Amino acid sequence: MITRYRFGTPIETDTVPRKPDPATGPVRHLAVHLPGEPVTASEQEKPGGEAVNPSRGEAGPAANKQADKLFFTCPLREADIVYGLGEQMGGINKRNAVYTSRCMDNDLHTEDRRSLYSAHNFLVVHDTARGGRTFGAFVDCAGIVTFDVGETRRDELVITLDDPDADLYLIEGADPADVVRQFRQLIGQSYIPPKWAFGYQQSRWGYRTEEDFRDVAERYRTARIPLDALYMDIDYMDDYESFTVSPERFPHFDQLVSEMRAQGVHLVPIIDAGIKVKPGYRVYDEGVAQNRFCKDEKGEDFVCGVWPGHCHFVDVLDPDNRRWFGEQYRALLDRGIDGFWNDMNEPSIFYTEERLAEAYALVDELRNGELDLTTYFAMKDAFGALSNNPADYRLFYHTVNGRRVRHDKVHNLYGYNLSRAAGEAFERLSPDKRILLFSRSSMIGMHRVSGIWTGDNMAWWSHLRLAVCQMPNIQMCGFLYTGSDLGGFGSDTDEELMVRWLEFAAFVPLMRNHSASPRAQELDCFTCTDTMRRIVELRYALIPYLYSEFVKAALAGDLYFKPLSFVYGDNGRTERVEDQLMVGESIMIAPVVEQNARGRYVYLPEPMRMVRFRALDDYDVADLAAGDHWVDLALNELAIFIRPGHLVPLAQPAQTTRDMDFTHLRVLANVGAGETAAYTLYDDDGYTRAIDVPEHFHTVTVENGAASCPTKHMELF
Ligand code: GLC
Repeated sequence: MITRYRFGTPIETDTVPRKPDPATGPVRHLAVHLPGEPVTASEQEKPGGEAVNPSRGEAGPAANKQADKLFFTCPLREADIVYGLGEQMGGINKRNAVYTSRCMDNDLHTEDRRSLYSAHNFLVVHDTARGGRTFGAFVDCAGIVTFDVGETRRDELVITLDDPDADLYLIEGADPADVVRQFRQLIGQSYIPPKWAFGYQQSRWGYRTEEDFRDVAERYRTARIPLDALYMDIDYMDDYESFTVSPERFPHFDQLVSEMRAQGVHLVPIIDAGIKVKPGYRVYDEGVAQNRFCKDEKGEDFVCGVWPGHCHFVDVLDPDNRRWFGEQYRALLDRGIDGFWNDMNEPSIFYTEERLAEAYALVDELRNGELDLTTYFAMKDAFGALSNNPADYRLFYHTVNGRRVRHDKVHNLYGYNLSRAAGEAFERLSPDKRILLFSRSSMIGMHRVSGIWTGDNMAWWSHLRLAVCQMPNIQMCGFLYTGSDLGGFGSDTDEELMVRWLEFAAFVPLMRNHSASPRAQELDCFTCTDTMRRIVELRYALIPYLYSEFVKAALAGDLYFKPLSFVYGDNGRTERVEDQLMVGESIMIAPVVEQNARGRYVYLPEPMRMVRFRALDDYDVADLAAGDHWVDLALNELAIFIRPGHLVPLAQPAQTTRDMDFTHLRVLANVGAGETAAYTLYDDDGYTRAIDVPEHFHTVTVENGAASCPTKHMELF
């Protein structure tokens, strides 16, 4: 059951396409009592003078102290687990930390980061003690929200809204999976990319010319490593102007696109949010002439510095501007491009002239003296605080329904609406063909038109482990198409980390190797390229299953990656497992995320069949009982654990998904003698927009030691 509580007059976010019946709102009582809870002490003042009172000031002194904020509190019991909050740092269980939804360009994802690039304001509190409560909370608002999940007080969840105008949805359900399903019904169907986006994708901030792209494609072909896409980072642009292509470095761009296309390789350009201030640049000229940009205090187009130098931001909160921005993609769609990644759309601000002036003034003041402890740090901080400074987000304005709104009040809506502009445009500009789109910044709601990637991670083991934990929580918030930069974006990777990361990424929807580190990270740059090729081939073999599970999850509002407890419930163990995931209905994975490990303990909630691959045609099989097992996993070994009575269809890999044969499949099975198992395989042409049509669903059966399917050639693996 979902109940909406409305506080004040929230700005429409469009995160929820259809509002449910607001049965209980508007709510004016002091504390919101979450389901199953007795009246809490939350009407009192908290230590430190913080009010926990959502009444907006007209009530008591506690409220007056923080009249501009709204608080929700809920006791946390020892047995409670908290899921959700999307791409935030930390584990699958979000307890004992504080997270803030403030979309931020963060280049260092250290453990103490409270915000990354997105605002995913949904969490599930689940009491794992028998008969315990389970509920979800979704804070639907444009402002900054902080979730103190038992960090300040171990036994309390406090949600703080900087802006008291919001909708709070409370979702009661039987268990976390049920709550997530209801939430996903509420927010609408997840974005489904084309099938080629499930292939291996190579990126690097450093490919600068046509020749660089030809070279990488050629090297992958020579090394026989499958490849479906190459990414074009900012250097393809003319002077960092979004929607342009450098005529010097890409004199034959159209030819490059078609050459790549002939090989089955898609070029995926980056689009940056900041529009360069440069008369003569069409997007700039048109934007100025048509009044498309955010304004400063004086009503002039707001200027700040990002990659291209001085930039304007399109006011994408206005539907007409959104449409105009979306139309800009036509320039590249018309040249044969069918995938994009939207970046810097938090929006990231490197500096403003205001902040620079302050820093320079300080330098002028201090330049002739000797720096002491205070002045040294003051100077260092003045420059360190230039980027993404909260003060700069108060310098510009949007027009929302004819009303001027300061950016910081609606900050979290920006990246969402910029990518929404693109996604909605693709439905118009490419009605017959799905376009690949993912974004760095996001908010729930954007999941209907785009995927996300998790930004600038590092080649650290802790970030591989982080990626494992982020995946299910991101998907709970609706973003099924997601992935982290494989191998790590910053700092040099090493061969072992790269292999282990590939072994995990083989199951991740967005399998993209992207980096900016000095060490080259293309798979042919390592001594164990053969191992890497075999892992990528295994990924391609799994695509029928992965794609099928992905689309079915999108249609059903289900998860593709699940924590174990979402399938098996709690048994005192399942709910505490943070380094194993269910992938679709048939498989569990237990990736190695530790340096120098040559195996790991794996917990099996039920008996499973382990298939340990060294290559598609080199593997061993073991039927393992429920419980804990030490599993040897040499660097070149990737294991999958198949649930009893379940099937995994496999295809023969090829150099690209385009070259694969999806009509002749083999099926891996964990089916005992005399037993029967069935699997519903979703398959389509890979780009059609019509998904939910009966012909796309195929029934695969394994019976008496043989596999069959009325619509595909099927044999047992
Ligand atoms: C940002 C992106 C990164 C990209 C870089 C240059 O840091 O997160 O992926 O390579 O900008 O465009």
